[in-house]
Amino acid sequence: MSSELDKALEEIQRELWADYTETVIDHAQNPRNVGRIPNADGSAIVTGPCGDTMDIWLKVKDNTIKEITFWTDGCGTSIAAGSMVTEMAKGKSVIQASKIRQQDVLDALGGLPEDSVHCALLAANTLNAAIKDYLAYKNEPWKRDYRKQE
Ligand code: FES
Repeated sequence: MSSELDKALEEIQRELWADYTETVIDHAQNPRNVGRIPNADGSAIVTGPCGDTMDIWLKVKDNTIKEITFWTDGCGTSIAAGSMVTEMAKGKSVIQASKIRQQDVLDALGGLPEDSVHCALLAANTLNAAIKDYLAYKNEPWKRDYRKQE
């Protein structure tokens, strides 16, 4: 009985993900770098064209992104894109990571259906905004605490 149910569920999953690559499915179902970094050196929350949001937090040491995490209230594809963009940025210099664009995320995921390409844009834009936030406070980190009290 339960094996029939398992088979039916597997079939539904297969149909749901039929248009996606193995990489997308893997990152959507086993997302890397999920969560928040307390006292992050840079962070951003961005709302995509579909209304979904993504957060990214990062820690930087010696101009290198040592730790990076994300969270999204978006679809499975946005989870895959957030997971991938954080994997791509981790260990890169801030400058290298700031060059990651939507197309790079799409390429790393092996492509996305047309309806979902904006999920990669949301991930790339959120990474970029988190890096900008880091750079804005890099030399005067006390200003971050000052802003929190506003
Ligand atoms: Fe909105 Fe994927 S991020 S549908």
